[in-house]
Amino acid sequence: MNRKSAALFSSQSESNEFARSLRAHAVGKQLQFFPVTESTNDLALAAARAGGEHGAVFVADHQHKGRGRRGRQWESPPGLSLLFSVLLRPRGVEPEKLGWVPLLAGLACAEAIRAHCGIPAGIKWPNDIVLPCKKVPGWRKLGGVLCESALSAGDPDPSYVVVGIGVNVNQSARDFPKHTKAPPGSLRSETGKSQSRQAVFKALLENLDRRLQQLGDATLKDDVEAALSRWWSPKKRLRLQLPGEPDRTIEGTFAGLDAFGRLRVSVAGKIENLADAEVVAVS
Ligand code: BTN
Repeated sequence: MNRKSAALFSSQSESNEFARSLRAHAVGKQLQFFPVTESTNDLALAAARAGGEHGAVFVADHQHKGRGRRGRQWESPPGLSLLFSVLLRPRGVEPEKLGWVPLLAGLACAEAIRAHCGIPAGIKWPNDIVLPCKKVPGWRKLGGVLCESALSAGDPDPSYVVVGIGVNVNQSARDFPKHTKAPPGSLRSETGKSQSRQAVFKALLENLDRRLQQLGDATLKDDVEAALSRWWSPKKRLRLQLPGEPDRTIEGTFAGLDAFGRLRVSVAGKIENLADAEVVAVS
């Protein structure tokens, strides 16, 4: 364990008590804590295949093989961040609407961080939790969401999605990897004080539970667009990198999302609908 960091829970009975204290319908009602594991997404995927319950949460103090989007690694020193995965079995939601899950999860986390820490956290399409700022590239990343479905895991059972969430809580600058394209931030570095990981975790899980009830509802699109518009105003230029084209970027302005959560960008007066892309700068 890191020099100053205490375990998130000292025993399974403490984590059981925490789970009982949650004001939630489903998320976290079943919660398992691991001091160390390879990836909490792997734990949740295995639980899904074994018939695990909707809302089950797997949380770890340290991951040896944490993964991020596009095959990247997700590294964090032990005990400084929140690393967890939630198993969802969304009922009555068409599979093509599941593209909203990472946006919903990011929004739920950003809102909980705003309310709990008093900093203007937001989301960056499609899966980042950020703090917008003036310095290049236009934000500091506070966390990210990696959704893995039955489909991406090569499982014929289409009924589940695993939502993996990593939030930087108590890191200071020296705890982050040296060479990152966009310098990350943590709740501690942005508020100037160390945060209780348990208190932040409770705020995240309860808000995720609340927002999940909106999945499949048309109002979710309005809320996600409103959150993005808060910093992607019509004056802001987005620079985007398209998959498979690392040497080329396109520029445009935010023009909302389509019914499936795809990004709409106005590029030289023409609307492009992007299912997969990376916003590399906002200015
Ligand atoms: C990203 O920004 O690329 C997404 C990062 C998601 C990281 C979390 S940490 C908990 C869960 N387990 C993993 O292996 N990944 C996700």
